[in-house]
This record gives sequence, C-alpha cells and structure tokens, in this order.
Amino acid sequence: MAAQDVMEKIVSLAKRRGFVYQGSEIYGGLAGVYDFGPRGVELLNNIKKSWWKANVYDKENYYGLDSGMFKHPKVWEASGHVGGFADPLAECRNCQHRIRVDKELANIGVAADEKMSEEQINELFDQNRDKIKCPVCGKKDFTPAMAFNLLVKSNLGDFTSEGGEPVYLPGEACQGIYLDYKNIVDTMQPKMPFGVAQIGKAFRNEISPRNFLFRTREFEQADTQLFIRPNENKEAYEAIKQDRWNWYLSLGINEKKLRFKQHENLVFYAKDAWDIEYEFPSGFDEVEGIHDRTDYDLSQHQKFSGSDLRYNDQEKGEKFIPWILETSMGMGRVFLAVLCDAYQEDEMDGETRVVLRLAPHLAPIKAAVFPLLKNKPELVEKAREIYTNLKKEIPQIMWDDNGNIGKRYRRQDEIGTPYCITIDFDTLGENPEQKDTVTVRDRDTGEQSRMPVSELAAFLKSKIQ
Ligand code: GAP
Repeated sequence: MAAQDVMEKIVSLAKRRGFVYQGSEIYGGLAGVYDFGPRGVELLNNIKKSWWKANVYDKENYYGLDSGMFKHPKVWEASGHVGGFADPLAECRNCQHRIRVDKELANIGVAADEKMSEEQINELFDQNRDKIKCPVCGKKDFTPAMAFNLLVKSNLGDFTSEGGEPVYLPGEACQGIYLDYKNIVDTMQPKMPFGVAQIGKAFRNEISPRNFLFRTREFEQADTQLFIRPNENKEAYEAIKQDRWNWYLSLGINEKKLRFKQHENLVFYAKDAWDIEYEFPSGFDEVEGIHDRTDYDLSQHQKFSGSDLRYNDQEKGEKFIPWILETSMGMGRVFLAVLCDAYQEDEMDGETRVVLRLAPHLAPIKAAVFPLLKNKPELVEKAREIYTNLKKEIPQIMWDDNGNIGKRYRRQDEIGTPYCITIDFDTLGENPEQKDTVTVRDRDTGEQSRMPVSELAAFLKSKIQ
C-alpha cells in the first residue's frame, strides 16, 4: 500500500472511531491543532501513565513537576528563543503560500545550516530559485526569505504593562523545569545526579503544519532533565539513550521501525545530540530528542535572573552549575507512532478486517461485554450484571449491543479492544456444564474460549498490567 494511502486510512480511522478530531472543525478547522476524542484521550493518557511510571515511579532520583505555562518574558530571552527561534520563510508572489526555504533547499540537496544568516540563506536561495516550485500553484516566483519567529505571543498582563515585553506561550516545555530547579533543590534536597520529569504543552508558529499529529502548532512534550556534576556526562548519556529505547519497546512498538540518529550540526553549547526516530508511512522521522546540553541552560538563567543557581554539594564542599542531560519527546508523535504501528489489515472469517493491535495496557477499552442477542431480556440482564461488576474493578470496560456479533467484533477490532466477552444461553445454564461461563474472544487471533465469570477480572488484570 502506498505510504499516502496508509496515512489517509489511519487519519480516517482516527476520526471515525473517536481518536482524533481536527481542532475547531465546525468552523472549517484551525491548521495545526487537533483534539483527542473519547478513545484518543484514553490512549493518550495510557501513554502518559506509562511514561510517568518509567520516568518517575520506577526511578529513585527523579521528581515530577507541573509548571505554569506562562513565564516571565526574560525566560525566552535567556533560552535564546526570542533571538534565534526562527525559520527562514518566503512567500509565493502568485498564491501567497509560504515555504520554509531551508527545507526546500534541503529537498534539492543544498544544505542550509541553522547557523546561517538571513543573507547567506538568501544567497543560496537566489542561486537555486529555478529549481524550487510553489507546492500549491507551481510558480517559481517567491519573495526573499525572512526569519520568522516561532514563538506564539499572548496578551497576558497587557492592561498592567503597557508597552512592556510580551508574555509568550511556551516554545518548549522544559523551561519550566529550569525555572523550578532551585525550588526543587531547596525543598527536596536531592543528591546529585537527580532528574525532573514533566509533561507540558508547547506552542510553535509552525509555518507548515503537516502529517497529521506529526507537526502541529500546539503539542505536548514529555521531558526529563537530569542534573549532573560537570563533565560526568558520557556514561549517564549512554544509559539514558538505552533507557529511552527500552521504553518504546515496552509500548509494543516494532523494534525494526525504530532507530537512533545522531545530529550532524550541534548547537554551540551541546556536547552530543541524538534523535529516536520511528518509521512512519512517509519514512523515518524524529519522535524524541536526547540532548547533552552542558551547563548552558542554568548558566543562562543565572545570568538573566541574577539568582544563584549553583548546586551546593556540602559533602564535597563544592558549588557548581549542574550540567543537563535532556530527553524531550513529542506526545502527539508517539501517539501517532503507536497508531501507525498497531494499524493492520488482515483476513478473518473470509473477510478483510481492520485491526489496531495495541498493547493491552495502552488500549482505550480493555474488554467489551455483549449479550448474544439484545432482544432477549434474560441475556441482557445477565450481561449487564457481568458488565457492571467488571467495570467496578476495571473502569475501561464497554457495553456493546449494537448490530450483530460480527459487526461488534469489527468495531472493537478497529479501536483495539483486546477482548470481547459474550454472554449466551449457556451462561444462563442451557448447557449446565457451561453455566456461569462466557465466551472470551481474542482480538489478535480471533480465537474464542470459555471462561468462568468469576475468573474474568483476574484474567483481564493480568493482561493489561
Ligand atoms: N526542549 C527540547 C526541545 O524542545 P525539540 O527537538 O524542538 O527539542 C522535542 O522538540 C520533541 O518535541 C521532538 O522530538 C518532537 O517529538 C516534538 N515536537 C517538536 N516540534 C513539534 C511540532 N511542531 N509538532 C509536534 N511535535 C513536535
């Protein structure tokens, strides 16, 4: 199947089955913004829970955080986002479509470095204009490239600080961790090395949001920052890379679709940077960055804020600005990778079916309970009793009596429900040997087995942990 077709099918399934909706759809949509529907928010929360467990609960020296989104205007100057967080943009004079000149140059094999000035980019652009077409109207008539800042401004506090510096929405979530580093040191008294983990929103004025959830203007980042002693970066960095790799495997993602990629051009303060990439239908692309950032972040915030951000190691009698090892993962990108990895079309009962082979701990619904026939009150009553009791122990249990059993299976397969439980006449005692047993159907194999009702909850719990 062509890559484009696979992606279209996943986008269509995500909408049809309540995983992801276009933001503001009834108004025609807002580019680069998506909403997670009833099934999507469950999958998203399950991914977040798994991430939080791996990065806070399973570790001894990591602290969770949830910092406020709005930050002092100086934060984004200190971080370098006000001065340097910019893409070179040119506008088509015919249809006003905007292109990212560095990306278009890269597509024709001309490397435009992040550190190049606007003039240098324009020189390259001018040399190659005849090769770059507008993707919308096909013309080759563009304005010169101009740096376009990606930070999204707000008008927070405009009424009090007329003419003051703008308050931005976060361009990256991790800045909240740097700002609370001192609070965490003062209140938790952590020993070096220690980490802080946070899931937070980020906003970027992306020129061309693309590939569904891959490049959006509003997204979530799950970040960890490990604070270490200066120069003690090498071993810890390798351990973090391995740890993050293993987490993707714990989601059930096919290892063959993952790879590491080292950055070729490092920013001046970085010692090393690697991405974890997933093979989306369109090819390998970044889902997470792992960055060895030296003492840059805290030094900048010390300089701009005037606060002493040195760590006081009383045992060793030393004060120093910690170095930072960062992991920064796009939650939407991982959600999309999980969907792409789980999406399959196979043959079952002589028909082609669509199935999401989600790992049971990620599946939005863990089991669906059906009465065999919905017009038999005795079946419905027994099925509702089993459903209600199960739901007390496992909240993500669904009732489904719509259409025939075959249709219910297909619907549950499409949302990745690992088990379907059917209550039939044997459950009621028509066959005395089967009384109080139900049929449990496995999503992946389609196999059905009989199981006593009393064992259902323990069985499901063992599968979803
Ligand atoms: N604090 C480091 C940082 O923000 P980044 O490489 O710009 O680094 C980290 O972003 C991760 O955030 C990326 O690996 C990607 O998964 C996600 N991300 C970045 N921009 C995104 C966008 N426009 N839409 C969705 N996810 C994005």
